[in-house]
Amino acid sequence: MKSPFMFGSTVSTIAFTNRKIELKRLQSNLVNGINTTIISPRRWGKSSLVEYVTKKIRKDQSEIVIISMDLFSVRSQEEFLSEFARLCIRGISDKWEEWAKTIKEAFKKLVPKLVINADVGDLTLEFDWNEIVKQKDEILNLPEKLAEIRRKKVIICIDEFQNIRNFDSQLDLERAMRANWQRHKNVTYCLYGSKRHMMTDIFNASSNPFYRFGDLILLNKISTTDWVDFLCKSFARSKKIISPTQAEQITSLMENHAWYIQQLAHYTWIKTDKEVDANGIGESFEEILASQLPFFEATIERLSNTQINLMKAVLSGEQQYTGTSAMRNYGLGTPNNVRKNIKVLEELDIIDKYDGNYIFLDPVFKVWMTRTFRL
Ligand SMILES: Nc1ncnc2c1ncn2[C@@H]1O[C@H](COP(=O)(O)OP(=O)(O)OP(=O)(O)O)[C@@H](O)[C@H]1O
Ligand SMILES: [Mg+2]
Repeated sequence: MKSPFMFGSTVSTIAFTNRKIELKRLQSNLVNGINTTIISPRRWGKSSLVEYVTKKIRKDQSEIVIISMDLFSVRSQEEFLSEFARLCIRGISDKWEEWAKTIKEAFKKLVPKLVINADVGDLTLEFDWNEIVKQKDEILNLPEKLAEIRRKKVIICIDEFQNIRNFDSQLDLERAMRANWQRHKNVTYCLYGSKRHMMTDIFNASSNPFYRFGDLILLNKISTTDWVDFLCKSFARSKKIISPTQAEQITSLMENHAWYIQQLAHYTWIKTDKEVDANGIGESFEEILASQLPFFEATIERLSNTQINLMKAVLSGEQQYTGTSAMRNYGLGTPNNVRKNIKVLEELDIIDKYDGNYIFLDPVFKVWMTRTFRL
C-alpha cells in the first residue's frame, strides 16, 4: 500500500488536513472580490491552502476563471509581464481557436506575436522587450479587460510573489500593479510567498505601494488535536495502527510543523508493519536529522560567530538581546551587531518574530544545534 503521507510538494487532496477556518475565509474572500495576501514562515502550508481552495472553487463555481502563476523561476519584469499576459489569454479561454481573436480584442498598444502549439493546447506570446515595460499598464489591466469582454469573474493567484523584489525597477512595477489592480471590479488577487520578511515588507510597510491591499492572512500552525486526528486516521486508512500518544509525540517532536510532520509520519509508516513500535518514531526522527545534516552544516559555515551566538541565545529563550548581560553572556557583540544579525537570521528563515518573541523556525535544526553546541 502507498504511504498516506506527502511532503515535498503541495498537498490538496487526501493528505490535506483541517485549516477549516482559513479555508472558509480564503474561499469567501476570493469569490467575493476581496484581494488576499497570505504570509507564514516556510513550509507551513500556504501553497497547499491556496491549491485546495482553488480546486474547491473550480468544483463549486466552475464559471469563475482561476489563473495560477508561480514566480519562482521568473527573473525579470519583462518575463513577468509576458508570462502574466500569456496566462491571462490562456486562462480566459482554453480553446486555441479563440486565442488570436482574444489578442486582437485585448491589446491596443502592444502587438504580441502569437505562436500556437495546438498539439499540446498551449500558446506562446512574443513581445518587444522595450515596449512591454513601457506599456505595462496594458498588460496589468489585461485580466479586467478580458473579464469584461467575456463577462466572467477572474481570480488570479500568484505564488512566490516576493520575487518581484528581485526585478530591476521593481518599485515602478509594484506601484503600477497596485494602481491598476485596485481598480479591478471583476478580478480578485491572491498573493502569497515563502519569504516572510519580504512579504511583510511589501504588504505591511505603510511606505510601500501594496500597503493595505486587501485581507492579510497570517497563517498559523495546525493544532495538535487536528494533527493527532489526521495521523491516527491516515494510519488506520492504510491498515496500520498508531496510538494517539504516539501521534502526539510526532506532532510535538516536529513542533506542529506541517512539512516535517508529514515527513516523520511517512518514515514511521514505512518502518511499521502493523503497529508503530516504541522505537519507530525516534529512529525515524534520527533518519530525518541525518538527511538534513549537510544543509545544517553548510548553513552554520556561512555564519559568523556573533550570528551563531545569537542563534544560541534564541534557543535558550533569551529575549533581551541588546541587554548588557545577554550581550556579554552569549557573546553577541554590540547592539548594532545584534540588530544586523537578527536581520540576517530572519532573511535566512532561521528565526522569526512570533507573538512578540523571536523563535527558532526549524524544529530539526533546533535539535541539531542543541546537540552540537551542547545547549
Ligand atoms: N493542510 C495541510 N495538511 C497536511 N499537510 C500539510 C498541509 N499543508 C501543508 N502540509 C505539508 O507541508 C508541506 C509544505 O506545504 P506547502 O508547500 O503548502 O507550504 P508553503 O507554506 O507553501 O511552503 P513554502 O514557504 O516553502 O512555499 C506539504 O508538502 C505537506 O507535506
Ligand atoms: Mg509555497
